[in-house]
Amino acid sequence: MHPETRFRLPAADAISLARTFGTPLYVLDEATLRDRIRTYQAALNELWPATSLTYASKANGTLALLQVAAHEGCGIDCAGAGELLAASRAAIPPSRCHLHGNAKSPVDLELALELGVGMIVVDSTDELEWLIQKGARTVPIALRINPGVGTSTHQKISTGHLKSKFGIPLLDGRAEKAVQRCQEAGLNLVGFHIHLGSQLREAEQLELGASALVEFAIEMMQRQSLDVRYLNLGGGIAVRQLQSDPPVRVGQFLKALFRPVAARLLQEGVMATLAIEPGRSVVAEAGVTLYHVMARKDIGDYKLLAVDGGMSDNPSPALYDRNFDVVPTREDECDTAFSIYGAHCESDLLFPNTMLPADSQAGDTLQVLCTGAYNSSMASNYNRFR
Ligand code: LLP
Repeated sequence: MHPETRFRLPAADAISLARTFGTPLYVLDEATLRDRIRTYQAALNELWPATSLTYASKANGTLALLQVAAHEGCGIDCAGAGELLAASRAAIPPSRCHLHGNAKSPVDLELALELGVGMIVVDSTDELEWLIQKGARTVPIALRINPGVGTSTHQKISTGHLKSKFGIPLLDGRAEKAVQRCQEAGLNLVGFHIHLGSQLREAEQLELGASALVEFAIEMMQRQSLDVRYLNLGGGIAVRQLQSDPPVRVGQFLKALFRPVAARLLQEGVMATLAIEPGRSVVAEAGVTLYHVMARKDIGDYKLLAVDGGMSDNPSPALYDRNFDVVPTREDECDTAFSIYGAHCESDLLFPNTMLPADSQAGDTLQVLCTGAYNSSMASNYNRFR
């Protein structure tokens, strides 16, 4: 059994917070969050002279969290006008924000230009033409490249394969044509970006994408005389979703990813800024969700609990069949398997086969670990629960 690395509340605090604020309740631990960011910064500083850490705010856009990330020196990756406005409300200078998105609307792009964002990561030739037409020549842009690299993660969060909707394909020459178009139109193209997917455990897959990105950048320097100043390797580093999973060592992961890239860039004398933009691995393990049990039903041997939340505060069991560790606040031995359902008007099984004390019952407080990422940011108002 690996030692626990994820934040969890002591039982008494879980009960008291649940009573004070009501449930379902997201709780984020600032110390864990700062620690994760510092681990990233320290690892990056060892690997390359110019690095940049951008926090992907889609993972959790809570304003206080954005402030902590910015205070720790992160840039903020924003997936549209809403996330840009959230960063503004958190008093983060727009110059530290990057606009992302595969289908950005004129509203997203106009706001980014008006605010003066630090970078627009262009995802398609249509978007490029829009920027050219608007005469957006000063804003730094990076082209998101689709390297055609598949990853072993849930198919819904694999984004760098050949048929992905994201990025400009590398393989059929379209990416090079986009570079030419930027050069002709006098856009401020600073470099390239990839993002292969999320919850990626194997650095090797990211390395494949990174190597394709670097080779392309070198070719563009040589063939198109592009001054490559920025290369973004994306996010996607996995977290320890369950205690039974091995912990993910960010330092080792980044070493495996950066070393070959750094060696190749040095060989060619390219001193570009190397950037990454993690979301999940910054915040997932810093967050827990508290629920109250509302009902217990024993149907023969099948023991069922229902809590006062569900797919509206955590959609990932339904979307990605993701499992979570559930920690009771009762001290008795966890010797009985329960199926834990939510409160929505459907059979929303949240946490199957969860070991809890035999006398678990209505009124108990339960703590669910590793919910800091893609829970509050993906919450819905289904059944008008909030
Ligand atoms: N950069 C870009 C361009 C992205 O699209 C994403 C995530 C990230 C960075 C950060 O990836 P991370 O480090 O968090 O894996 N809702 C899904 C995850 C979707 C990921 C979306 N893009 C889930 O709950 O698994």
